[in-house]
Amino acid sequence: MSAVNTDAQVRPREIVEAVRRLEAGELVGLPTETVYGLAADAENPEAVAKIYAAKGRPADHPVIVHVHRLADLGHWAAEVPETARQLAAAFWPGPLTLILPRKPGVAQACAGGQDTIGLRCPSHPVAQAVLAIFKGGQGGLAAPSANRFGRISPTTAAHVQAELGHDLLVLDGGACAVGIESTIVDCTVQPPRILRPGLLQAADLAAVLGVSAEALQRPADDAPRVAGALPAHYAPRTALLLRTREQIHADLAQANDTRRIGVLARHALEDGISATWMQLPDDPAGYAQRLYAALRELDQAGLDQIWVEALPPTQPWLALRDRLSRAARGSGAPGN
Ligand code: TXA
Ligand code: MG
Repeated sequence: MSAVNTDAQVRPREIVEAVRRLEAGELVGLPTETVYGLAADAENPEAVAKIYAAKGRPADHPVIVHVHRLADLGHWAAEVPETARQLAAAFWPGPLTLILPRKPGVAQACAGGQDTIGLRCPSHPVAQAVLAIFKGGQGGLAAPSANRFGRISPTTAAHVQAELGHDLLVLDGGACAVGIESTIVDCTVQPPRILRPGLLQAADLAAVLGVSAEALQRPADDAPRVAGALPAHYAPRTALLLRTREQIHADLAQANDTRRIGVLARHALEDGISATWMQLPDDPAGYAQRLYAALRELDQAGLDQIWVEALPPTQPWLALRDRLSRAARGSGAPGN
């Protein structure tokens, strides 16, 4: 298996084998367009329990159920609000998770004690191919990101095996195109409310629903619990600090600083400065696509600190600021 592919390399017989395992209650690493998921049959409680055990995830954190594009949402949801239908019609298959009232008794093991269910229809062709034949196209796959709880989400098959070991069957669908987790929208309240920002932005959703972007981003303290909303998440083990370009250059110019510093920047390394330097594209989509792989690489480089160049304070960068501020809080830095 190669570490990074740009195209899906999965053979039909691997899809069939993955479906066989999933239907037998086993776990499979599954590529989606956002990040890789750790998948299990959403309606098999023992299988879902294996996800929690493998991730080290607390039992009260619900998992998203992935469905085929022709899925019957009424199988999962007690009701499908009109706003959810509009969003699904506009953005599925794609990087959007809808929280809906759960049909009583359905996929209880995925609910983490909530009376709701998170549904997502992924666009990755490998995920769709699996969902098309799993339980005759009518099943759901519970799949949180395939990382240990609190750690960086995997965006390649090799990342999944580094997190969870080589015994797990991982379908290698190449490097994820989006690179950060889906936008999560709570459709149990009206207008809906964004619980986790993603590359699909409030303005995109607002245009479809005919409401303001601000309305979708209103704070609420009665929100259902979202693990991605914990302050410390998506974290490397190395201390990670968010710093301005000026701070980074001023400190790297100090000749007597012996710390090993890695920098994740949006501009090239300037002459006369030495540091482990990684440059990501200066646009939100390109940056998101490579962010987690870059953080993993820096985390394994034996550094004392990772300095991340602060991101612009604009809406298109919101989801990335969100992930990086959580990564900073969850990282190994004392007082960070
Ligand atoms: O892009 C994604 O969403 C990826 C790929 C694999 O689909 N999945 C993902 O799953 O990020 P996970 O479990 O790592 O994050 C999903 C978040 C969790 O924070 C969970 O608490 C929240 O969604 N969630 C799931 N079901 C929910 C529900 N019924 N109510 C509120 N939050 C829910
Ligand atoms: Mg996750």
